[in-house]
Amino acid sequence: MKVTYLEETTSTNQLLLDALRRGDSLEHGEIICASFQTDGRGQMNNHWESERGMNLLFSMVLFPMNLEAKAQFPLSEAVALAMCDVLSRKADGFSVKWPNDIYWHDKKISGILIENNLNGALVRESVVGIGLNINQETFHSDAPNPISLKNITGKDYNLTELLEEIQEAIMKRYIQSEEDKSSLHNDYKKHLYLFNTYHPFTDINGTYTGRIIDVEPTGHVIIEDTAGVKRKYAFKEVQCNIS
Ligand code: BTN
Repeated sequence: MKVTYLEETTSTNQLLLDALRRGDSLEHGEIICASFQTDGRGQMNNHWESERGMNLLFSMVLFPMNLEAKAQFPLSEAVALAMCDVLSRKADGFSVKWPNDIYWHDKKISGILIENNLNGALVRESVVGIGLNINQETFHSDAPNPISLKNITGKDYNLTELLEEIQEAIMKRYIQSEEDKSSLHNDYKKHLYLFNTYHPFTDINGTYTGRIIDVEPTGHVIIEDTAGVKRKYAFKEVQCNIS
């Protein structure tokens, strides 16, 4: 499967979105990977920082068949689980922080930014951008709790080999997302960070103590507060203060 390596670019997500807009021919599952991004994008308009040549910064293009935009959460689950699949071959302790950050215990090792182009109600093209901290040993940005694979295992990794492993794992989970959404969703729930344990959560009304009791197949998270009241949130509507 195709992988293009670049020394430097603005953002691998942007590069693929531009290529799609131009109508360039791209393969399903094709990846662009860069050693350095000058304008790496994160969730919530944050920047994604990464030391040159030390980590994986890449985007994969997917052409979903018949995926409704309002039912796109399985795509997110597939990618997050694929990352856990690969990382769990290197060490124990990885999980998915809702909706799709990859954590090792209480620290973030990887972030995922999915940007879609729609065709009416359907997702026509999806650009899955992933930053995965691999060989970087110290972090200087204001990201609160970063960690790398090397911090965890003490080993250096070959980025190319690891990327091939990830590409294969994403394609496998992607097939599961098309063929068996309910087993994928069960796997996702099994890998959920902070499940069923009380933590502070912040929503538009302030901070309260609650526990995640479910994630629905749509991606909504259900948090029960200490009074037993259940609250349901979409992506970006609530944050757990361990971050
Ligand atoms: C997050 O904030 O957790 C998501 C970070 C996603 C970063 C990756 S790095 C490769 C790809 N290109 C980008 O500009 N962003 C994503």
